[in-house]
Amino acid sequence: MPERVVTNHDLAALMTTSHDWIVERSGIVERRWADPSVTGSDLAADACRAALADARVEIGEIDCLIHATLSPDHEFPGTGVFTQRKLGLGPIAVFDIRQQCSGFVYGLAMADSFVRSGLYRKILVVGAEVQSRALDLTDRGRNVAVLFGDGAGAAVVGTSDEPGRGILSCHLHADGREAEILWLEKPGFKNPPLISIADLEAGRHFPFMEGRKVFKHAVTRMPEAIREALDANGLTANDLDLVIPHQANLRISEAVAQQLGLPPEKFHNNIQKVGNTTAASIPLCLLDARAAGKLHPGGLVCLAAFGAGLTWGSVLMRW
Ligand SMILES: CC(C)(COP(=O)(O)OP(=O)(O)OC[C@H]1O[C@@H](n2cnc3c(N)ncnc32)[C@H](O)[C@@H]1OP(=O)(O)O)[C@@H](O)C(=O)NCCC(=O)NCCS
Repeated sequence: MPERVVTNHDLAALMTTSHDWIVERSGIVERRWADPSVTGSDLAADACRAALADARVEIGEIDCLIHATLSPDHEFPGTGVFTQRKLGLGPIAVFDIRQQCSGFVYGLAMADSFVRSGLYRKILVVGAEVQSRALDLTDRGRNVAVLFGDGAGAAVVGTSDEPGRGILSCHLHADGREAEILWLEKPGFKNPPLISIADLEAGRHFPFMEGRKVFKHAVTRMPEAIREALDANGLTANDLDLVIPHQANLRISEAVAQQLGLPPEKFHNNIQKVGNTTAASIPLCLLDARAAGKLHPGGLVCLAAFGAGLTWGSVLMRW
């Protein structure tokens, strides 16, 4: 996480909002913003180094990098190669994926399939965001600006020596019919120029969100994805030890837990401290859950994501 903490009170000094409004609607108390000199690939490389140390894996063992972000350093090439360069990785395979808040779950599913197929043996999956760069800090953008934060999280995916432990199944979905309810329209290659003065004046370079519609999708799709994972493995919600939901909004997590008939303590949340960190949200929440002592060997853990696209999915694992 970047060091700079931005509280709700700090935001209230920039736009018409309040600590109470933000906490009541989202649960968020503070988030982190990267310093201007720090890029998404810097945060990604730091997270990858931490993951390698934690997994006791040497950099030379990594044969694939899957990089998820919605805040790339540049339009192209993808940020993955910049992260690769910073890590000093050799000429391995590098993928960039653009599934926004579902990016980490999509990346894990890809890594799981690659390892199972034997194409790659040890894969770094990283989600990294510097969303503070594209927030409209005026009243026009306050519904979005108060929610998002910066950060990165990574995991090393490989084979397990212990039968039954690891990823059990992955379930991914997308539906582009309402792509424009959560998007950043410009710059884009649809029409020249990629961005115009008129676009800048209209704020088309800031994320746009129809919050209520997004909320409705999230509370429908995330329980669906969790149930799909349980059904595929002949399990029920009561078998779950912990759910790591994408940290979009505390109210969304609470609504999903309620729909599944699970007590709130089976849903881990850290949005209060980090806001919505998009592709970094699930690995950061997982790390927070581990630090809180909530992950036990053999425990059934479900990661569930939802994001722009619209995209959603789940990964069920035996910890
Ligand atoms: C964004 C969200 C918190 C807004 O909450 P909401 O209850 O839907 O609020 P609305 O958008 O209907 O806005 C209610 C009022 O608050 C105002 N408002 C919006 N942002 C505000 C802010 N930061 N501070 C104060 N007031 C704000 C609106 O202008 C509106 O005012 P009005 O009634 O005078 O028109 C909520 O819709 C949400 O969390 N949606 C899902 C977002 C999400 O998860 N996105 C990421 C998906 S990966």
